[in-house]
Amino acid sequence: MKISTKMIGIIFLARLLKQVDGKGEISDLESLAKTDAKYTALLKEINATFHNRPTHIKKNAEFEKNFQTVLIALNLSMYDIATKIDTYTDFTVYNQIRVELERKIFKKIQVAERLLKLENLLPKCRTFFGDQQSLLVRGFYQSNLMKLELLHDPSPECENVELQQIFIEPTSTTSKPHNYDIDIVKTLVKYHTRPWGNKTYKEFDEKIWILFMAINSEEQKFKKDALATFNKYDEHRAILDKALAIRIGEFTKQIPNEKNPCKVHLIRLKKELGRAMFAAIKKKHDILVESNYVRSCLNNNRKLYKGTYALN
Ligand SMILES: *[C@@H]1O[C@H](CO)[C@@H](O)[C@H](O)[C@H]1NC(C)=O
Ligand SMILES: *[C@@H]1O[C@H](CO)[C@@H](O)[C@H](O)[C@H]1NC(C)=O
Ligand SMILES: *[C@@H]1O[C@H](CO)[C@@H](O)[C@H](O)[C@H]1NC(C)=O
Repeated sequence: MKISTKMIGIIFLARLLKQVDGKGEISDLESLAKTDAKYTALLKEINATFHNRPTHIKKNAEFEKNFQTVLIALNLSMYDIATKIDTYTDFTVYNQIRVELERKIFKKIQVAERLLKLENLLPKCRTFFGDQQSLLVRGFYQSNLMKLELLHDPSPECENVELQQIFIEPTSTTSKPHNYDIDIVKTLVKYHTRPWGNKTYKEFDEKIWILFMAINSEEQKFKKDALATFNKYDEHRAILDKALAIRIGEFTKQIPNEKNPCKVHLIRLKKELGRAMFAAIKKKHDILVESNYVRSCLNNNRKLYKGTYALN
C-alpha cells in the first residue's frame, strides 16, 4: 500500500513538474495547489475527528503514532504532496482496520457476557470466557496486530467445540418451571452452529443470532417468543429449501436432454437456485417463482415446472 501510493505520488509529481518553464507552469502549479488543498482538507478532517481522542483510542499507542504523522503532514508544504497522500492513505487504511477489529472485539465480548450469565456453563469455560472478556477489553487499546491475535486465539475446549459441550448436562427439569434456555441451546446445537460462526448465510445467521441473544433476557416469556419466531422462520426456510432442492434435481436431470436456448436458461437458473439455498427467504421464493415456467423450454415438448412449488 505504502509503495504504491508513493509511486503514484511520485509519478503525479513528475507529471506536474515536467514543464516548469513555458506555458505549462501556471496551470501545473494551479493543479498542484488544488491537489494539495484537497489532501490538506482530508488530513484536517482526520484531525478534527480525532483531536479529542474519543473513546478508547485515548490510550492506544499505535493510534497515537499514526495520528501524529497526520499532524506532521499537515505542517508540510504543497511540494510534499506525495507525503501527504501517503500519510492520508496509511492513516485511513490503519483506521479502517482498527474500526473493523474493534467491532469484532465488541461482538466477541458480548458473546462472552451472554454465556457467562448462563448458569449451566461448564466451570472451565466460565473461567475461559471470564479471562477472555478482560483480555478483549484490554485489546481495545492495543495494536491492530495484537487485536487480530486476540480474535484468532480460540479455546479448543470452549470455543472450537459444538455448543452443547460447554454446558453442564441438564439433570432433572421436571420440578422447575419450563426453562427455555435449554430449548434455545438445543436449537443452536441442532445446527451445529454458534452465532460467531459461518457468516456466508446472512439471513439465517441474523435470525439465529437474535435467538442466541434472547438467552440473556430475564423473562422466560421473551425467550419463548424468540424461540417461536425463530422456529417459524426456520420452518418456512426448510419448506423453501426442500422445493429448491427438488427443482435443482429436476433441472439436473433435464439439462442433458435439452437444446439451446432452453438448455442455457436451465443451467443459469440451476446456479441461481443453488445460490438461493443460502439466501434470504424472499430470494428463495422469487427464484422458485421465476423458474416455475421456463418459456424457452416450451417448444421442446418437455415437462413444465409448474405446481412443484405452490405460491403463497
Ligand atoms: C487540529 O484540530 C484542533 C481542534 O479542532 C485544532 O485546534 C488544531 O489547530 C488542528 N491542528 C491542525 C494542524 O490543523
Ligand atoms: C509544525 O510547525 C511548527 C512551526 O514550524 C512547529 O512549531 C510545530 O511543532 C510543528 N508541528 C508538528 C506536529 O510537527
Ligand atoms: C459455511 O457455509 C458454506 C455455505 O455457505 C459451507 O459450504 C461451509 O462448509 C460452511 N463452513 C463452516 C465452517 O461451517
